[in-house]
Amino acid sequence: MDQQYFDITPLSGALGAEIGGLDLAQPMDDDTFAAFCAAWHRYQVLFFRDQELTPEQHIALGKRFGEIDISQFIPTVEGYPEIRLQNMSKSGSIPGDVDWHHDNSFVAVPQKCSFLYALEVPAAGGDTVWVNTVSVFESLSKPMQEFLEGLTAIHDVIDIMGPKLIKQNGPKAWQAARDRSPPVEHPLVRIHPETGQKCLYINPLMTSAIKGLNVDESKDLLEFLFQKMVRPEFMVRFHWRKGSMAFWDNISTIHRGIYADMPDLSKEPRVMHRVAITESNYTALNS
Ligand SMILES: [Fe+2]
Repeated sequence: MDQQYFDITPLSGALGAEIGGLDLAQPMDDDTFAAFCAAWHRYQVLFFRDQELTPEQHIALGKRFGEIDISQFIPTVEGYPEIRLQNMSKSGSIPGDVDWHHDNSFVAVPQKCSFLYALEVPAAGGDTVWVNTVSVFESLSKPMQEFLEGLTAIHDVIDIMGPKLIKQNGPKAWQAARDRSPPVEHPLVRIHPETGQKCLYINPLMTSAIKGLNVDESKDLLEFLFQKMVRPEFMVRFHWRKGSMAFWDNISTIHRGIYADMPDLSKEPRVMHRVAITESNYTALNS
């Protein structure tokens, strides 16, 4: 049904589709928006090529999907606090997205979805990979699913990255980060608010423990689930070009960049703009 609004080409058996024939710089009418949402809920990650958007158009696109999440942790584009500036060549020595994660799962109100737009990219390297965490959940046995559904996960990026932070920036910086980002709790299995699908809502970068389990039980169960989550059959991988846009569901997918294969960033920078949409009704959904 959506083919009348744009072309859809699935990119893997797990998730992800390339959308052709849609100019994201233009406002979406209601029918196109509905078709976009149907494709989003079917494929979870959508890719677009050869887009040209001003910062204002990028923000307007995000606002069509909800309230923009203003960055507290990532630098923003000058004059546009709604746009995160993801410039790998200017990142510190701990890039925040080198391991699998949901964006911002370590804060109380996470992000629903994001639009990431490539301004400068190396010819090769720096791809991004996403995992379908609905499929991961569905691959588990019924008894395991039922056990996990009753659990709460603790998300604490400072606990996980603490030793590196202290080594790199010293104990004062660690304490400041600790004060700014206390641990938060989320259901380990979430019901997607728009599709009703169940998905694992844990990730190796930000989920530090499972509430109520012994330390070894928590560690071993998370490790088991993380290993399951990163199997290739649950993935799609995207190679960026200048003008590429990726849109992803940040509830039912995790993602990471692949930076080990990147060329010299001073010669071939990787610069992207990201607009994220917050889960503004999150507390109500999970209370
Ligand atoms: Fe991310």
